[in-house]
Amino acid sequence: MLIRPEQACDCDAIRKVHQAAFQGDVEARLVDALRAGGFSRISLVAIEGDEIVGHVLFSNLAIVLPDRAIPALSLAPVAVSPQRQRRGIGSALVEAGLKLCREQGHSIVIVLGEPEYYRRFGFSVELARPLQSEYAGDYFMALELVPEALRGVAGRVEYSPPFAALG
Ligand SMILES: CC(C)(COP(=O)(O)OP(=O)(O)OC[C@H]1O[C@@H](n2cnc3c(N)ncnc32)[C@H](O)[C@@H]1OP(=O)(O)O)[C@@H](O)C(=O)NCCC(=O)NCCS
Repeated sequence: MLIRPEQACDCDAIRKVHQAAFQGDVEARLVDALRAGGFSRISLVAIEGDEIVGHVLFSNLAIVLPDRAIPALSLAPVAVSPQRQRRGIGSALVEAGLKLCREQGHSIVIVLGEPEYYRRFGFSVELARPLQSEYAGDYFMALELVPEALRGVAGRVEYSPPFAALG
């Protein structure tokens, strides 16, 4: 299995992975909209043979405080083709993505998902509690890539427009 950045010709295959994994079109359309809107920062595919079997996207979001906005990233969506799940591909994609996030100097990543899954990468529900978001709650998590990046930060998490369009 190989992980590499998305290339232009990968769009259809990425769409198919999300459609199959989520059994619907919502996440596939979200990926297209984030890419088209220029919000995508890190987009990685997992390849087995010559087939794309997984994809993860990190896109811009902002944590808005009264006097400033702190740049952060949203991890969403991540998907692995159903017949290839539970073999480490999803974890490898998230880990490779987070490594790139660190290398590129990002300091905060936000994710909405299963705590049991995302905890293994260091995401924490507790760390996200002070943040305000329509998604706040037991599935809303944050990860500091730079120690204490979220210390004293109790701002509003502002997703890029394609997320708002999800309704
Ligand atoms: C979630 C997903 C990306 C994980 O990819 P994967 O390649 O199957 O995962 P890995 O093989 O790296 O990890 C498997 C581990 O994750 C756990 N896991 C997988 N999906 C999980 C979920 N939804 N909730 C909790 N744990 C989950 C498995 O139990 C397994 O745990 P273990 O290592 O303790 O046995 C994949 O299952 C998928 O595409 N699911 C459908 C789409 C989705 O729900 N995406 C996430 C929300 S954005």
